[in-house]
Amino acid sequence: CGIVGYVGGQSALEVVLAGLQRLEYRGYDSAGAAVLADGGLAAAKKAGKLANLQKELAERPLPAGNTGIGHTRWATHGGPTDANAHPHLDNAGRVAVVHNGIIENFAVLRAELTDRGHELTSETDTEVVGHLLAESFSSCGDLAEAMRQTCRLLEGAFTLVAVHADDPDAVVGARRNSPLVVGVGEGDGDGEYFLASDVAAFIAHTREAIELGQDQVVELRRGAGVTVTDFDGAPADVRTYHVDWDASAAEKGGYDYFMLKEIAEQPKAVADTLLGRIDRAGELTLDEVRIPDSVLREVDKVVIVACGTAYHAGMIAKYAIEHWTRIPCETELASEFRYRDPILDSRTLVIAVSQSGETMDTLMALRHAREQGARVLAICNTNGSTIPRESDAVLYTHAGPEVAVASTKAFLTQLVACYLVALYLGQVRGTKWGDEIGELVRELSEASAWVEDVLGTMEPVRELARGLADRNTVLFLGRHVGFPVALEGALKLKELAYMHAEGFAAGELKHGPIALIEEGVPVVVVVPSPRGRSVLHDKIVSNIQEIRARGALTIVVAERGDTAVVPYADHLVEVPETPTLLQPLVATVPLQVFACELATARGNEVDQPRNLAKSVTVE
Ligand code: G6P
Repeated sequence: CGIVGYVGGQSALEVVLAGLQRLEYRGYDSAGAAVLADGGLAAAKKAGKLANLQKELAERPLPAGNTGIGHTRWATHGGPTDANAHPHLDNAGRVAVVHNGIIENFAVLRAELTDRGHELTSETDTEVVGHLLAESFSSCGDLAEAMRQTCRLLEGAFTLVAVHADDPDAVVGARRNSPLVVGVGEGDGDGEYFLASDVAAFIAHTREAIELGQDQVVELRRGAGVTVTDFDGAPADVRTYHVDWDASAAEKGGYDYFMLKEIAEQPKAVADTLLGRIDRAGELTLDEVRIPDSVLREVDKVVIVACGTAYHAGMIAKYAIEHWTRIPCETELASEFRYRDPILDSRTLVIAVSQSGETMDTLMALRHAREQGARVLAICNTNGSTIPRESDAVLYTHAGPEVAVASTKAFLTQLVACYLVALYLGQVRGTKWGDEIGELVRELSEASAWVEDVLGTMEPVRELARGLADRNTVLFLGRHVGFPVALEGALKLKELAYMHAEGFAAGELKHGPIALIEEGVPVVVVVPSPRGRSVLHDKIVSNIQEIRARGALTIVVAERGDTAVVPYADHLVEVPETPTLLQPLVATVPLQVFACELATARGNEVDQPRNLAKSVTVE
């Protein structure tokens, strides 16, 4: 979910709605806002996208006020209806609250409130908070104190922002787990303050931000400033920082969709992620990896945890790490990891890969790893987010803000970061692959040009996608690092085109999936380079023949000049020559373009696919 709060000299509703627009990637099942005006509180909320709320507000405007909050929701408790949308109010309509997370003990709290005469009307876990805040405020008369008292009663994950009609110059927030950032603007002399799940919500107004820590309560008061305490009221230190990108980075910049812009930005994202990390002598300098080399030399196992697209980057990293460093490596879905009681100790290096740095499944996996004594390195795209904050070290990907829900540029930069970590481990440990590592570092520095090259040849892929818009199923095959690429291609198609799409290891084909092949079924096959480990290549060429013999429409992604595949490819998509392990950097790009174009042809919302959210802050 996305949360915004504002107090200052501007129209709070305008600031809040513009902020919600930038946060819609976090959920778009329903939206709502509340403003304090004329001694009272006015709220509006609507199921569906933000546009529905905007239409409602155009028809029935709220009174103008300078303090307000807003929310865009990804439903957990209670379906996406008007009643379940946030903000939630108390019975007197004096308090409004928005929430991101899950309050686990809401049923008990709800029963207690009902016994005390409160009437709760929604199916959400959030509603209890409005009532609890109202009760506390009526006894202590201080909204921040009421928030602290309330937080002490709550269990689970919650980030909250609230306003009270009896205290019209303040917005109060509380943070546990899901993100909350303060923006400090100059305003008209009395200051203006913002609260949001992501700096993108207020970047048009200010680039000065304050990070809130775990279990903190913040009060933003016009004319007085920002006060941060823990849940018991003890003052907390605050760290102000300057956001190093501006509003234009979070705009479409002439593209129809963010996804198209983000696909096109990939060469730059890859180059920026490599920048300053390879020195002139071809050595890697990963200064941010603060884990001492002596510790890295002792590592006897690497475990990578991640979700969704980031998990596919992690799967590819496993091939690279084991081959280049000979350290055993496993990659696991973060949501499965801690529940199977994994074997970890101080010699285990856990790598948590996450674009947002907020994915709750990944966060919980890394917490578990640290409790077991493992070192955790985060690979993350969001400065100061929770996952890097809680890790021993972080290697940032420099993709810039990624807004489209389906990840593209973040994925390529996650790959680059994974390769850098793998090669760095090889460098530190002086493995017998030393020469190969030097050569790979040089080749990796070419990656941006390769991606640029692929992007220049995508028109036939778009045309092919348009021609397949009425199909129900597309299958993806790959071997070795081509297997995770196949999984990623299938995931993109599910997310964007809502088609049945599956990725398989090509060798597994004969053990079951081949039964799915019938006349005309499109099968995308990712073919490894014919150079290098040619045995891989030859095996997959046989697999293409097997499926073609059974009627499949073959779409073959292969290295330029790979003549062996030509006779069996109904459609050939050529990618530049790369070392085998680096091929995912180029092979993924046509699959992204394919999914994006298919989604467009099917009339789907490219940037905001149904039911999904970019940043999933619940487990
Ligand atoms: C969500 C998104 C996916 C993303 C995954 C992990 O499910 O819809 O696109 O890959 O989260 O996100 P992270 O921010 O941890 O990389």
